[in-house]
Amino acid sequence: MIEYRNLRVALLGAGSVGAQVASLLLEHGPELANRAGAGLELVGIAVRDPEAQRTAELPAELFTTDAESLILGADIVIELMGGLEPARTLILQALNSGADVITGNKALLATHGPELFEAAEQVGAQLYYEAAVAGAIPIIRPLRDSLAGDRIKRILGIVNGTTNFILDRMDTVGESLEAALATATELGYAEKPDPSADTEGFDAAQKTAILASLAFHTTVPLDAVYREGITKVTLEEVEAAKKAGYVVKLLAICERLTDADGVEGVSARVYPALVPRDHPLAAVHGAKNAVFIEAEAAGDLMFYGAGAGGIETASAVLGDLVSAARRHVIGGPGVAESTHANLPILPITAVTTRYQITLSVVDAPGVLAEIATLFSEHGVSVEALTQSVQPQSVQPHAIQNSTTPTATLVIGTHEASEAALAATVEALEASDVVSTVTSVLRVEGL
Ligand code: NDP
Ligand code: HSE
Repeated sequence: MIEYRNLRVALLGAGSVGAQVASLLLEHGPELANRAGAGLELVGIAVRDPEAQRTAELPAELFTTDAESLILGADIVIELMGGLEPARTLILQALNSGADVITGNKALLATHGPELFEAAEQVGAQLYYEAAVAGAIPIIRPLRDSLAGDRIKRILGIVNGTTNFILDRMDTVGESLEAALATATELGYAEKPDPSADTEGFDAAQKTAILASLAFHTTVPLDAVYREGITKVTLEEVEAAKKAGYVVKLLAICERLTDADGVEGVSARVYPALVPRDHPLAAVHGAKNAVFIEAEAAGDLMFYGAGAGGIETASAVLGDLVSAARRHVIGGPGVAESTHANLPILPITAVTTRYQITLSVVDAPGVLAEIATLFSEHGVSVEALTQSVQPQSVQPHAIQNSTTPTATLVIGTHEASEAALAATVEALEASDVVSTVTSVLRVEGL
C-alpha cells in the first residue's frame, strides 16, 4: 500500500451539500487519496449548531462552532455555508494563510469574486468553484480549461432548477405558477426561506455573471447582468407558445456582441424566452439544468444534468478537492483567473433578438395596416402574424359589453434591437386600435 502525505481538509458547513461532502469523503477517502496522490484528512466541520440533525451520519467529534480556529493550519478549506458573511471573511483568511479554497457559493463569487481571486493570486493559492454553477454539471472546468483554446460566441443556459421545474409543469400539465412553486419548495429545489431568489432570476443572474466572466475572460459584475424573472409568465403565454412550436424557459444568456457603434463587448442577461421545441434546451425537463455553448471552433456543445441536490453537488465539490490535492502534491502557484480580455459590458439596449408580441386589438377594417405601420415606423420587421377573434367573454373588461369586436394578434418579428422593440411597444400601447399589449417575449435559440 502506498503511503501518502496527509492534507488537512477543513469543512465549513454541513447542510444539504456539506453533510454529503463529509460523508463521501469519509467513505471514499482511500480511493480519493489514490486519485489525488495525497491523503485527505477531514480535520473538522464548522457549523452553527453542532447538535443539529444532519442528512448523513457524521462523527460528533468533528463538529465545532469555531470556524476561524478550524481553518488555521488547514491545507484545503471547503466553504459550504452559503451567504456573503462570514463566508467572505473566512475564505480570505484561509487564502491568506496559503490554503486552497473550494466553494459552491455563487452569491459570494458573483458579488466579491474579484476580491477573492485577487487574494488567491497574491499568495499563489487557488480558488475552486465547480459547484457554484449548475450543481453537479461540469461546466467551470470545461470553460476554464477544455475550451481555453477556443472563442466562445454564446452561452444559453438553464441554470435554475426551480424555475425550470415551474415552467415545465406549466407547459406539460398546465399547472399554475403558484402551485408549481409550492411543489418545487416542497421538493427542496427552491431557495429558503424566500424563493424569490429563484423566481425573480437573482440566482440565475449570479450564475450568469460567473459564466460570462469565465467565457469572455472579463470581469462581469452582478449588477451588469440584466434580469427579469418568471413571475409575470402566464399560463396563457405558455399555452400560446406551445401552439406556436415554442417552450418558455428562463435563460441565462452570455454573448459576445458588437453594438450599433461597432463596440465589441459582452452581454449578460436573464429572462424568460421562447425556445423552439426542437432546440436541445427545450428537452430539459423538471429541475434539471443544461448549458448550451456555441464556440467558434468546437461548434455547439451541451452540458446537462442535476443543477442542485446535496449528493449531486457534493460530486462537483469532491472533484475540486482532488484537483486541489493534486496541485499541493505537484507544488507551484495556483493559476490566476483569466480576465485579460477586459471587454466592455454592454447594456440590454445593445441586444438584438426576435420577439413575439401578443395584442388584443379592435377587429375592424384598416387595423392590421395601422399596426403594420407602427412596426415599420420603428424599424421592426414583422416575420409572422396570426389572428384569432376573441369570444366576448374573454375580451378585456373595458370593451366587454360594448359592441366593438376584438381580435388577438400574435406577431413574430425578425431580429430587432431592444430599443426599437421598446419604442414599438410604447407606440402600440398608445394606439387607439390596440386594447392591450398582452405579452412581449423574446425568442432565443433560432
Ligand atoms: P445549507 O443552508 O443547507 O447549509 C449551510 C450550512 O452552513 C449549515 O450546516 C449551517 O450550519 C452552516 N452555517 C451557516 N452559517 C454559518 C455560520 N455563520 N457559522 C458556521 N456555520 C454556518 O446550504 P446548502 O448546503 O444548500 O448550500 C451550501 C452552498 O452550496 C451555498 O453557497 C449554496 O448556494 C451552494 N449550492 C447549493 C446547492 C444545493 O443544491 N443545495 C447547489 C449548488 C450550490 P447549521 O447546520 O448548524 O445551521
Ligand atoms: N435554488 C437553486 C435552483 C439551487 O433551483 O437551481 C441550486 O443553485
